[in-house]
Amino acid sequence: MRHLMSPLDFTVEELDKLFDLANDIEKNPSKYAHSCDGKTLATCFYEPSTRTRLSFEAAMINLGGSVLGFSSANASSAAKGESVSDTIRTISCYSDICAMRHPKEGAPMVAAAKSGIPVINAGDGGHQHPTQTLTDLLTIRSLKGRLNNFTIGLCGDLKFGRTVHSLINALIRYDNISFIFISPEELRIPDYITEKLKELNIPYEEVIRLEDVMPNLDLLYMTRVQRERFFNEEDYIRLKDFYILNKDKMALAKDDMLVLHPLPRVNEISVEVDDDPRAAYFRQVQYGVYVRMALILTLLEIEV
Ligand code: NCD
Repeated sequence: MRHLMSPLDFTVEELDKLFDLANDIEKNPSKYAHSCDGKTLATCFYEPSTRTRLSFEAAMINLGGSVLGFSSANASSAAKGESVSDTIRTISCYSDICAMRHPKEGAPMVAAAKSGIPVINAGDGGHQHPTQTLTDLLTIRSLKGRLNNFTIGLCGDLKFGRTVHSLINALIRYDNISFIFISPEELRIPDYITEKLKELNIPYEEVIRLEDVMPNLDLLYMTRVQRERFFNEEDYIRLKDFYILNKDKMALAKDDMLVLHPLPRVNEISVEVDDDPRAAYFRQVQYGVYVRMALILTLLEIEV
């Protein structure tokens, strides 16, 4: 039985197969409409979410399956002190596959160790968010036709943003990728990541001003300042509007640069950018459903 804890759980070849499947689902949705008839997905969310939980649910419904679950720790027996290990053993009796989000790093892995069904990490604290990364990679591959030869700028909360950590981890396996990390001093990318890039000889630079690097980027990955992971509200207020991507900044970028964002957005992308053809963040949401459909089929070993 296979779980998904990190994007690295799949080889590059396995990812290619997964993305081919997702693109086929995009083109021929009706072919897959009954492939999970009789199967149930559980969504166990100990932390808030809109897209991730609902896109898992939409994915299973589109495949003909059913869904059950909870959307906050307060609405589950976690509020009574139940461990994730006990919860997953219970959920294993009710469903065939589980997507779990938890504020504690590693919690989905603890669950997977005791689970009778495949567990998908749907975000664990500031650590990893593999299905967002699959979404990001599928979006880039579908819209650009490749996953190599890019300069990617990652901008915003690079310290606490798990989507950023997961995406870097996944992209370093492709050729000729260079990173530009754009953040205020306090929200810099963690050292363990830059250490790894140095070790692998992967080029990166760290800058504070977005304007300075905008013309160099093929991809710009914007992120929200992760309020819930701050220790004090004052720091959050000081840093929350540090970056605001607007039309003026977009005018400095290449004509075919893509803007990605895992969403939710707060103020970091002005709504005036939404109509720019380079803004890909809502298309990204749609790719998130296709890739989760492909993932469910793959982990349940269902051939269509
Ligand atoms: C991200 C997350 O939960 O880490 N959202 C998502 O799943 N699309 C990003 C965020 O919350 O900022």
